[in-house]
Amino acid sequence: MTWRATILTLFPEMFPGPLGLSLAGDALEAGRWVLEARQIREHGIGRHRRVDDTPAGGGPGMVMRADVVAAALDAASPAEEARPRLLMSPRGKPLTQGRVRELAAGPGVVVVCGRFEGIDERVIAARSLEEVSIGDYVLSGGEIAALAVLDACIRLLPGVMGAEDSEAEESFEAGLLEYPHYTRPREWEGRTIPDVLLGGNHAAIARWRRSEAERITRERRPDLFGPGRKS
Ligand code: ADE
Repeated sequence: MTWRATILTLFPEMFPGPLGLSLAGDALEAGRWVLEARQIREHGIGRHRRVDDTPAGGGPGMVMRADVVAAALDAASPAEEARPRLLMSPRGKPLTQGRVRELAAGPGVVVVCGRFEGIDERVIAARSLEEVSIGDYVLSGGEIAALAVLDACIRLLPGVMGAEDSEAEESFEAGLLEYPHYTRPREWEGRTIPDVLLGGNHAAIARWRRSEAERITRERRPDLFGPGRKS
């Protein structure tokens, strides 16, 4: 079954964007996933196709209307839709490799990209939207976040990723950051490659990589480090 991504956005021209190139682009062309970017404004109100309005209770910015977003969702995905419906939002649950694995293993995703101050809370509840964040910083809209989610999923689809990448995937599966990599030349600007990597002792190399991965994880991401932690 082909993995299907439906994106609801005010900027459908942003898709596939970078996902039309490289690994994801090749997979798209090969039919391993399909993309449908839909214009929310087609469901806007009146001659001007308004999608937003002022916040109830006052305050700055504009809020996307529940009725408009619901109409866009209902047109794009039936009520009995099997795909999870995501809403990209900085207040969402932080995305993990674990959730990415689940999404990639399913039939696909429906992704709502917010703009303005936010989306009327009622449509989030009424259409069971799962709010997802890609990090503790604020983007100007959900589109770039949606591209990140899709990229992370697509590389895990069967036949998309080369064998060389699967090892890196496993290293994150172990809950650790990656160990350092080196290639030729053997000496560059006076810097050498650690001797252990040139010695041909595969057990010693594996031990060194594991200990470097642990050191880097402990230094940079103490929150990931320690017994029982999982991505
Ligand atoms: N929209 C704006 N900022 C975002 C973030 N950090 N994650 C997901 N969606 C967003």
